[in-house]
Amino acid sequence: MSGTDTGNEDRHAHWKNVWTTRDADKVSWFQADPALSMKLISQAGRRRDSAIIDVGGGRSPLAGLLVEQGYSNVAVLDIAEAALAQAHQDLGGLGDDVTWIAADVLDWQPVPGLFDVWHDRALCHFFTTPEDQAAYARTLGTALAPDGIAIIATFALDGPERCSGLNVARHDGASLSAMLGTGFVLEQELADTHLTPSGAEQRFCWCVFRRL
Ligand SMILES: C[S@@+](CC[C@H](N)C(=O)[O-])C[C@H]1O[C@@H](n2cnc3c(N)ncnc32)[C@H](O)[C@@H]1O
Repeated sequence: MSGTDTGNEDRHAHWKNVWTTRDADKVSWFQADPALSMKLISQAGRRRDSAIIDVGGGRSPLAGLLVEQGYSNVAVLDIAEAALAQAHQDLGGLGDDVTWIAADVLDWQPVPGLFDVWHDRALCHFFTTPEDQAAYARTLGTALAPDGIAIIATFALDGPERCSGLNVARHDGASLSAMLGTGFVLEQELADTHLTPSGAEQRFCWCVFRRL
């Protein structure tokens, strides 16, 4: 196996290294226009002052686009401080209107029910063990308010087996539902193909869950 699974102790070092050595527009997950994320967040039909968090946001332009559309309570969480600092800088003045949270989502202790919308593009699939998947589900279940919406995009069952040199767990709606447990209802499942900067196609599974 050419990929590796990371434990909590070296996950931080891995992503710090990625974000301090790679050009943001060359990484395989680079996406100039997060159109599907914006569409699904808009479909959630929340007020402009509702609390939205992009977990594992990296240097995605999503937070800035949300602020531009008038969302006033946007947060980005990432394990890599360097990614957050660069993302903040990328947004110029708009970055001051975003809450930046440097934390490992697996042991982050959010204020219960603080968020109305949880967005995760290409983070959750790095959690390959039952323990890490349970920790992710626990954080999500704590952070999201009842009736809140979780938008989760992972590599699909026919997607890549690795990313950034790490093994991933590929998903469909059923496996993500099983991972999140009975407190979440799957409302929508979509297939999408991401074109990497080097021209490779990556199949993604996008799921929208509602927290009961
Ligand atoms: C594949 S990138 C996706 C970035 C962004 N969501 C996008 O679509 O461009 C995964 C991101 O998750 C972050 N990450 C990895 N493990 C994490 C963890 N345990 N907690 C929080 N963030 C993590 C990485 O630093 C990286 O920015």
